Amino acid sequence: MSFPSHSARESPHIKVVSLFEREKKGERAVVLLPHARGDLDSESRADEFVELVRSAGAEVLERVRARVEKPSPKYYIGSGKAEELAEAVRAFEADLVLVDHTLTPVQERNLEALLKVRVVDRAGLILDIFAQRARSHEGKLEVELAQLKHMATRLVRGWTHLDTQRGGAIGNRGPGETQLETDRRLLAGRVKMLTQRLDKVQTQRTQQRRARMRNTVPRVALVGYTNAGKSTLFNAMTTGEVYAADQLFATLDPTVRRIEDLSCGPAVVADTVGFIRELPHDLVAAFRATLSEARDADLLLHVSDAADEERELLASVVNQVLAEIGAEDVPQLRVMNKIDLTDTQPVIKRDEHGMPQQVWLSAHTGVGLDLLREALGERLGGERVRASLQLPLSAGRMHARLASLGAIVSEKVDEDGWQLQLDAPRSVLAPLAGNSDAQARALRALINPE
Ligand code: GTP
Repeated sequence: MSFPSHSARESPHIKVVSLFEREKKGERAVVLLPHARGDLDSESRADEFVELVRSAGAEVLERVRARVEKPSPKYYIGSGKAEELAEAVRAFEADLVLVDHTLTPVQERNLEALLKVRVVDRAGLILDIFAQRARSHEGKLEVELAQLKHMATRLVRGWTHLDTQRGGAIGNRGPGETQLETDRRLLAGRVKMLTQRLDKVQTQRTQQRRARMRNTVPRVALVGYTNAGKSTLFNAMTTGEVYAADQLFATLDPTVRRIEDLSCGPAVVADTVGFIRELPHDLVAAFRATLSEARDADLLLHVSDAADEERELLASVVNQVLAEIGAEDVPQLRVMNKIDLTDTQPVIKRDEHGMPQQVWLSAHTGVGLDLLREALGERLGGERVRASLQLPLSAGRMHARLASLGAIVSEKVDEDGWQLQLDAPRSVLAPLAGNSDAQARALRALINPE
């Protein structure tokens, strides 16, 4: 684990470098678990936070609980509690304190001064976990950028006591530049470079998306609360399958693969980063591009841990994040994973029209994976329009747009116009069906038959 750190104030750029290199070492942590009176889920939140800390690679030596009704600007917790925390750090010889709350840079700095060890708040921990989990090139760039921005606010404010040389500094710049200015310059340079790289990757991604639209292969994205089993399911679903045919995309993001043997024809499946409760808002913004996999999908496989009593609460957290990235209208198929830990049998649960809504399975043992394929075939088939469309010769524009999307499987033309055979995902055709002219109306009728 390499938490974003700004504690080695003697030599901050050495720390910046080690952040880039992402050194791995086990760390001895004390966790601070604040709660307010009447918090109903404080127990499970505390357990989850400890789990997050562990999954980031630290050893949890002690939990310190603190009731915080009115946060103190100095330490966030009261000074008596801060002393108790310091005592725990000394007793356990910890080298890190993790706080299950967002701290201001000042609170973080004051706590570090008192405790004499690094202090990382919830946002810092989540960033670290995202950094470890980000698998795509783009995801990694996004994480590093978010980490640097997080760090920059702390450098700027954390170092104001050294910043006096800047006042009245005419003739005093250049070689006399303070450590803080050097650090800021290094950070700013790196942020600029990363932003440019991300822009480039995102342009490529837009081009790939266009190519994909032409291929009209339906796109499935796995979403779910962290630890629900998305990656396990992704691997189980795609074992022995080749990487997505689109080479550029495959090298850029190895978490996209193609699956062939569905009743609806091939589909492309993408794994995404795990979702988490209280994802800080600016982090959601930073991960917008990675999460665009979810927004652009024809179907979301929303994976839940069937053995977790809180699964519905966590599913609603996932749905909130999806809404924040504009993916709330993408159809979902719920996957209730880990049934091997429950006494449930594998099953497809359907709605009143017979459409699959949930598949209960175990990605780990493989039981129920066949049901998932069956349900996916049905749902994606349902998300696809396979029908014929008659267009008059005057509708050359509509014909050209359908052709450019790769939606025309075959066509005949005579003096009455084109007789087209269409095969394309509903979501690809929908933008063409928005106008009020006769062709758009005809297409709309195909997309929404009832
Ligand atoms: P993030 O990367 O944090 O978003 O997690 P994820 O949703 O990708 O979960 P991952 O696949 O890493 O699985 C989390 C843990 O659950 C691992 O320890 C898996 O071995 C375990 N797991 C996944 N599927 C199953 C299952 O069907 N049964 C059991 N018993 N464990 C499972």
